[in-house]
Amino acid sequence: MRDEILVPGVELLESMRSVGYSFDAAVADIIDNSIAANAKHIHVLADSVDATYIAFLDDGEGMSDDEARHALRLAGTSGNMRDSRDLGRFGLGLKTASLSQCRRLSVLTVQKGVLTGLQWDLDHVLSTGSWSIRVLDQDDISQIPHAGQLESSVSGTLVVWQSLDYLLAGAHDPSLEVAERLASLRHHLGLVFQRFLEGRGAIRIDINGVRVDAIDPFLEGNSKTQPGPHENVVIDGHVVSVEPFTLPHPSALTARERRRPDFGAAMREHQGFYVYRNRRLISSGGWFGLAKLDELSKQSRVRVDIPPELDHQWQLDIKKSRVEPPQAFRSRFRQIIEHVTGASKRMHRFRGRSQSRTETTHLWQVIEERGGYRYAVNRAHPMISGLEAQLPPEKRLLLSQTLQDLATYFPAPDLYMRMADSQPQITTKVSDDELRDRLRAIRDAGGSLADPDSLVPALRRVEPFNTVGNLQGLVMQVWEENE
Ligand SMILES: Nc1ncnc2c1ncn2[C@@H]1O[C@H](COP(=O)(O)OP(=O)(O)O)[C@@H](O)[C@H]1O
Ligand SMILES: [Mg+2]
Repeated sequence: MRDEILVPGVELLESMRSVGYSFDAAVADIIDNSIAANAKHIHVLADSVDATYIAFLDDGEGMSDDEARHALRLAGTSGNMRDSRDLGRFGLGLKTASLSQCRRLSVLTVQKGVLTGLQWDLDHVLSTGSWSIRVLDQDDISQIPHAGQLESSVSGTLVVWQSLDYLLAGAHDPSLEVAERLASLRHHLGLVFQRFLEGRGAIRIDINGVRVDAIDPFLEGNSKTQPGPHENVVIDGHVVSVEPFTLPHPSALTARERRRPDFGAAMREHQGFYVYRNRRLISSGGWFGLAKLDELSKQSRVRVDIPPELDHQWQLDIKKSRVEPPQAFRSRFRQIIEHVTGASKRMHRFRGRSQSRTETTHLWQVIEERGGYRYAVNRAHPMISGLEAQLPPEKRLLLSQTLQDLATYFPAPDLYMRMADSQPQITTKVSDDELRDRLRAIRDAGGSLADPDSLVPALRRVEPFNTVGNLQGLVMQVWEENE
């Protein structure tokens, strides 16, 4: 037996472009490197006029000449020799993320006053048929956009993407395309790096000079957010922290919160687990197939923090945009999901069916039967029974049929759509005059409720009287009319 070396063909570089990075995920991978190099201020600089480049400038530690060569090697840094706080993983991000968007990647870096410039150019690799990078001289460097800004710094790194073929694929108007990508990028970076962008020692990211704000998926700043019990799940000696949150009902969101791309109609898709690795968001939303993206549970989000030691168990992918919980977590997660979505569902579900005397008497009832449900108008409601009592027997059937038809043809599908969309529902408040009319009907119907002393306490739990401030006063007025 003897060994033989099979050197991969240069076409490998071209195929690696298709590992499936989104633009947002690719940029986040570049920014991971800047954060790992202790950068405090990172600029994303895009050519918004001609869309010829996107550049990333940081003020981190930079790289020595050797380190820069190492950085451009595929899989240059193995997963095992890392600092456990590192945001990197496979030693591929810089290259694959960049080449998934562009044909030419330049890296300029300054450390201890020494400037190094290197470049992967796909066309150069394909035409020479060799894995060769370009070493940039001073002239080449001066051609790279924003090189001047780096040259004036003590240390830092500039990554530049040019020939944005994949990024602009199919775009009719490249500058418009870039503008749209940057808008969505702003939200993505705000969310992914939220915990770096706020608090003590926060870093700053600017996109074309405009600061990226931290975006909190759990709205912890909104007093209506309900945090659930914090739990540490320990597996193989490693701690995974799990914190459920029930977000406020859409009506309790501020106008600004409501405009967020993950709220409003999108809230349903964005329920689920938010998994963080070293405080950096890896995957957002979804229940790992353990539950459905139910309309009623759309308020539920769960923060999960996993340590990088568990990367392999959680099947972290190259793009750092997907994880899958190991078997050992799945049953525990199922219980957590049930608990947190229960809280969200209770917020939405109408408790019309309740028979308990201490609860409100609703005008509508939900009747569960034969494995399904239907809505009905509550005949026991004093306004309905009062009306019924005043009708001659031959008209009562008509009333009954009318109520039944109203319930059957209630436009539930339309309501469902509007609620999913978080459209505000307009309800008109019943005026005192109108309340008096309703009270007269109850009074004139006679029966057990016609006595004002027992009526007032009873009506306090009956819609729409349950929200009236001076119910006692209104009832007395109506009953005195008759004396
Ligand atoms: N902005 C940067 N500043 C300093 N070093 C960097 C920067 N970007 C990349 N590097 C170096 O290049 C190496 C390779 O990066 P990358 O391909 O993203 O793989 P990984 O992040 O998994 O190590 C990093 O480990 C780091 O040493
Ligand atoms: Mg990296």
